[in-house]
Amino acid sequence: MYSVMKNLLPAAAALFAVSCCGPMIASDGEIAVVPRPERVEAGEGRFVWTPATPLVVEMKDSTAAWVVDAWNETAVSVFGRPADIAGEDREHAVRIAEDATLAPEAYRLTVTPTHVDIEAGAPAGAFRAVQTWRQLLAPEAFGAGNASGAEVPCAVICDAPCLGYRGVMLDVARHFFTVDEVKRTLDIMALHKMNVFHWHLTDDQGWRIEIRKYPELTRTGSVRRRTLVGHDPGGEYDETCRYDETPHGGFYTREEIRDVVDYAARRFITVIPEIEFPGHSVAALASYPWLGCTGEQYEVRQTWDIDDRVCCIGRETTFGFVEDVLSEVAELFPGQYVHIGGDECPTVMWESCPACRGRMRAEGMTRPRQLQNYATARIERFLRARGKRLIGWDEILDGELSATAVVMSWRGTEGGIRAVQHGNDVIMAPSSHCYFDYAQSQRPDEPLSWGGDLPVARVHAFEPFEGLAPEQRPHILGVQANLWTEYIADFPHVQYMLLPRLAALSEVGWALDRREYPDFLRRLRRMARLYDACGYRYAQHVFEE
Ligand code: ACM
Ligand code: ZN
Repeated sequence: MYSVMKNLLPAAAALFAVSCCGPMIASDGEIAVVPRPERVEAGEGRFVWTPATPLVVEMKDSTAAWVVDAWNETAVSVFGRPADIAGEDREHAVRIAEDATLAPEAYRLTVTPTHVDIEAGAPAGAFRAVQTWRQLLAPEAFGAGNASGAEVPCAVICDAPCLGYRGVMLDVARHFFTVDEVKRTLDIMALHKMNVFHWHLTDDQGWRIEIRKYPELTRTGSVRRRTLVGHDPGGEYDETCRYDETPHGGFYTREEIRDVVDYAARRFITVIPEIEFPGHSVAALASYPWLGCTGEQYEVRQTWDIDDRVCCIGRETTFGFVEDVLSEVAELFPGQYVHIGGDECPTVMWESCPACRGRMRAEGMTRPRQLQNYATARIERFLRARGKRLIGWDEILDGELSATAVVMSWRGTEGGIRAVQHGNDVIMAPSSHCYFDYAQSQRPDEPLSWGGDLPVARVHAFEPFEGLAPEQRPHILGVQANLWTEYIADFPHVQYMLLPRLAALSEVGWALDRREYPDFLRRLRRMARLYDACGYRYAQHVFEE
């Protein structure tokens, strides 16, 4: 008797803890998922998820463990403990299984009163399904910590993304963000089913990635002495300009880069590094003056607009440097893409540089701009030989461009359309719809920004296929939000600029063919409660209108 009691007591105590202590989080029955799933069939009744609900994993790929981690992250938030893993399926279990007929990111989530099934083409799809699951829970469930149960409305949700590339670019050069803040950005992306993180690691105002062969890049190039206060007057820097007289710096070590790449991979997000070349490179020139046309010692830039000081294309030493840097970068980032920037590169330094003029003569060039085409083509061949694909801003299109390079269209969609006509693949990120550094509204109390305003509704209305014939559309790999940070100095501000516009862009990328703005707003209201539960900052305008 005693021994039976002894065996039963812990189980009874656990049952007591489960059934008596924490709240039961009721569902209001609303199904409001962002981005909009392909098909939602509401069912009858509720599934009650409890701390005792086991997880059954029938996926062979080792990355299924990352899906379990994601599931348990939510379980810990709601119940204070991860799910038990069961060896075989049973009633009241959650089963995660492979369905080879589905695409890798596609999934089917079936919730009945007695069972939950997540079937996906691959673990990536199961991970996306877990994000949907999070949105089926009542937002009060998050952070409850000791709930005895949380209801989920019964439904069958069949879902798949319209576009394979759904990106977010974060500029960490203008303002540095810590590894932890980058990870929070990846968390926000994961919630929105975004799958590419474009990491803008270098620019005139800071070099942020450790390169073993060139230690000055981080010793010198990662710190600017001071920063312009207020709007950049556009080259007219005089005594009316004020500076904060405070050094700003930071960089990621190789270990930190690997940590972020791994954190992203566990969320089925690929990281694309961007190393700006040949323009936007004053931080590199300040570190190694021989990279420039004149060899002058510059300072890491303290202001924001386009800089004439760019890498010399005449000297072989420049290419040695870029190839060394990209070799180390390629080693750290397992994804197929490397972004080399290529935007906004003035040619004035090249025009008066003997080495650049010599290169032009030797290569039979008639215009200085061709030096950039030459450089891009060389780097593209270099990357291709290492199994990588070059991405560049749409300026790389000015001249011959290898068909294997990918164009990121930012000056409208025209560059992207032209690139598709050339046969190149394209990521659409026009400033008109995708520049999240633009103000959330025209209200006077918006934080300092530039470029005008970009309201949520305009992001949601973005048509990445406009101007393209149906047979050209496969060249559009996807869409991307770009967050430049000249005027964004801290992470709450990053969140404010991202949200809820990222919800709108996620819907463009994931649910392109099934968007309806009023319905989006209904679902977004609920998403905002999830933002609240996660402690995210976001713009409120669309909820006040
Ligand atoms: C860019 O906004 N210069 C790509
Ligand atoms: Zn030169």
